[in-house]
Amino acid sequence: MSPIPSITVLISGRGSNLEALHREASGYRVGAVISNRCDARGIDWAKEAGLTTHVLHRQLFPTARDFHTALLEVVMHTRPALVVLAGYMALLPPEFIAACPARIINIHPSLLPKYPGLDTHARALAAGELMHGCTAHFVDQGLDTGRVIAQVSVPIHPEDDADALAERTRLAEHSLYPWVVRHVVTGDITLADGHVRFSDDVRREALTFGYRLNTV
Ligand code: GRF
Repeated sequence: MSPIPSITVLISGRGSNLEALHREASGYRVGAVISNRCDARGIDWAKEAGLTTHVLHRQLFPTARDFHTALLEVVMHTRPALVVLAGYMALLPPEFIAACPARIINIHPSLLPKYPGLDTHARALAAGELMHGCTAHFVDQGLDTGRVIAQVSVPIHPEDDADALAERTRLAEHSLYPWVVRHVVTGDITLADGHVRFSDDVRREALTFGYRLNTV
């Protein structure tokens, strides 16, 4: 029997998506967790869960270049089928993306292309949006600009503040992201020539779960 494909998860903070990825792992396993911050809560959780962890605290490297060289080395060492950003709060430079031994995906707390970057919940509220949500996407060299894979919408209630909306959005992330990771790993979701393709099974499941696939 062939081994279960292993993903490498990059985090910077709380790690709730990491927990969901581990809890819902099917068709893949979390082979390694890498944090660019030594105080990331997710790293403590990952250690307790018995996952392999690596901390490369950015500030301990003289330059960004040195940091990314070391990060690439660790990622290569973990031999991932997929690199999964889960609250990794830093841009990966083009050289890193080009040299990365596997595709990279990210989860973002907005309905991209709306609200790339930070403070997405507060910005959606300030704009008077009625709907918000999250997006799983392939990573390219821009800030949250890579090809969208799938999105989940959540309603905005009149009494919402940014924390309440963030919490509702996070629950949607926890359901969408493991599903996307599973199907990218199995090859049911692919990126070729700038287009995201889905197998028929993925299309059917997305309809059932209420996930919106990128059909562009
Ligand atoms: C999530 O909202 C994710 O969309 C964004 O950063 C947040 C990370 O949360 N990229 P957590 O660390 O997974 O709890």
